[in-house]
Amino acid sequence: MATAKNNTIKLKFDSARKLAPAPESKSAAKINPRYDLFINGKFEKPSSKKYFDTINPATEEKLSEVADANEADVNKAVKAARDAYENVWSKMPAKERAKYVYRIARMIQERAREFAIIESLDGGKAIRESRDFDVPAAANHFFYYAGWADKLEYAFPNRRTTPLGVAGQIIPWNFPLLMAAWKIAPAIATGNTVILKPAETTPLTALKLAEIIQEADLPPGVVNIITGAGATGAAIVNHPDINKIAFTGSTDVGKIIQRAIAGTNKKATLELGGKAANIIFDDAPLDQAVEGVVNGIFFNQGHVCCAGSRLYVQESVFKQVVQKLKDRMETLIVGDPLDKNTDIGAINSKQQLEVINKYIKIGQKEGAEMFESSCALPGKGFFCRPTIFTNVAQSNRIAQEEIFGPVLAIQSFRTDDEVIEKANNTPFGLSAGVWTDKGSKIFNMTTKMRSGVVWANTFNKFDPTSPFGGYKESGYGREGGLHGLNAYVNVETL
Ligand code: NAI
Ligand code: MG
Repeated sequence: MATAKNNTIKLKFDSARKLAPAPESKSAAKINPRYDLFINGKFEKPSSKKYFDTINPATEEKLSEVADANEADVNKAVKAARDAYENVWSKMPAKERAKYVYRIARMIQERAREFAIIESLDGGKAIRESRDFDVPAAANHFFYYAGWADKLEYAFPNRRTTPLGVAGQIIPWNFPLLMAAWKIAPAIATGNTVILKPAETTPLTALKLAEIIQEADLPPGVVNIITGAGATGAAIVNHPDINKIAFTGSTDVGKIIQRAIAGTNKKATLELGGKAANIIFDDAPLDQAVEGVVNGIFFNQGHVCCAGSRLYVQESVFKQVVQKLKDRMETLIVGDPLDKNTDIGAINSKQQLEVINKYIKIGQKEGAEMFESSCALPGKGFFCRPTIFTNVAQSNRIAQEEIFGPVLAIQSFRTDDEVIEKANNTPFGLSAGVWTDKGSKIFNMTTKMRSGVVWANTFNKFDPTSPFGGYKESGYGREGGLHGLNAYVNVETL
């Protein structure tokens, strides 16, 4: 530490600081060389006879190969789900259903370490995050919705609820196990049966979950997990015997799904992209706010739909905040996702790294000023340094479009009204953050911001009891909490 001229303490970060490697052992995770489709309680070969590789994005090595489900496979899975729905699951007393959901939750906890390792291997996220966030949060979702299964009359007083039927659920690659939990837990707790399709770059934890579901003795067909890419997803969306589509992913695919189900009886919840504003007022605790900014944009390599990818700093503290942020960025450890010291792991895929690099070039061309941390990157695999842009205009593409990587666009503001206008000025409306000492300012901001979630003096906090979802092009419907039950039942007045 050194004392600066103006008597404030200036923290000196040593970017050359080296920690001894602390890798988590791969041997605790069992990955089969090949996975088939989980249909009707059994692993079945795909009728397509095709398989595709899933790799470790940190090393580019193949981890396993998974089946590529075609329309015939989707038909089989839907039939299994329909039979299970009509004959078993919708008829089972709710308190019996709850026992299975609790059992899945407990089994995820028992095998938490294995899930965390596989999640980091297959998707590139830091083990610290998969171990401390993804896996416990996934178990919590099953616990939470297990609790509701036989208490729906309290969730919907004086109403009768019935399940929707068969749900087709399509999930992305940024939180593979957690998104599977968000989708499956409320659906089966309320008596629906499901066909879930994980993303093509991260299928392995969903297939591990299939193994647990088999061991838990869930009646065959209640949960079917099939792998494949966009065509498999489209076959699920277009299947006539599906009652509900739950999708998390890009806004582009969300729009395709909306068009595909228009005019049908299918219900849908869509959780799409975001471009969240994280707003720091001059009365905020700045060091905590900088931690919140780091968590907001660098958590999970920035592959987060609710990432705080736009930062607005009040003019009087702008320079100070940007300097603190740059200093903090120099301490972030980028590298091996399995190393327990790693803060930022691998970018999920080559394709996503190309998208991020494209936006970094766009930012430079648009005239914004770029700063990236000076850390070395591993020689192999897909990695990106934490990057920020200042001198950004509201109309710049890096301030309007979802980048889905560790790239932050920073602007300054003077007044509350100005920042509210700027914060709301994107096609999205998923999340936002406000940093201030004043409760009244928090309430003023939260009531005027058009986003599903607004965090105050924190960011990226999740809880199964709390609903999550968007406005505008961020989608519709809510997942989590009581609202999340609503998305899987018909509600009738008694
Ligand atoms: P994507 O939206 O294509 O993929 C998400 C899921 O949808 C995957 O399981 C995929 O197989 C499936 N899918 C693809 N095409 C489909 C179709 N026509 N019908 C049904 N399902 C289909 O996302 P992608 O291409 O991997 O990422 C592109 C961009 O999307 C990212 O750069 C990011 O900006 C955004 N994204 C946002 C996510 C979020 O959580 N909001 C998650 C993933 C991506
Ligand atoms: Mg992979």
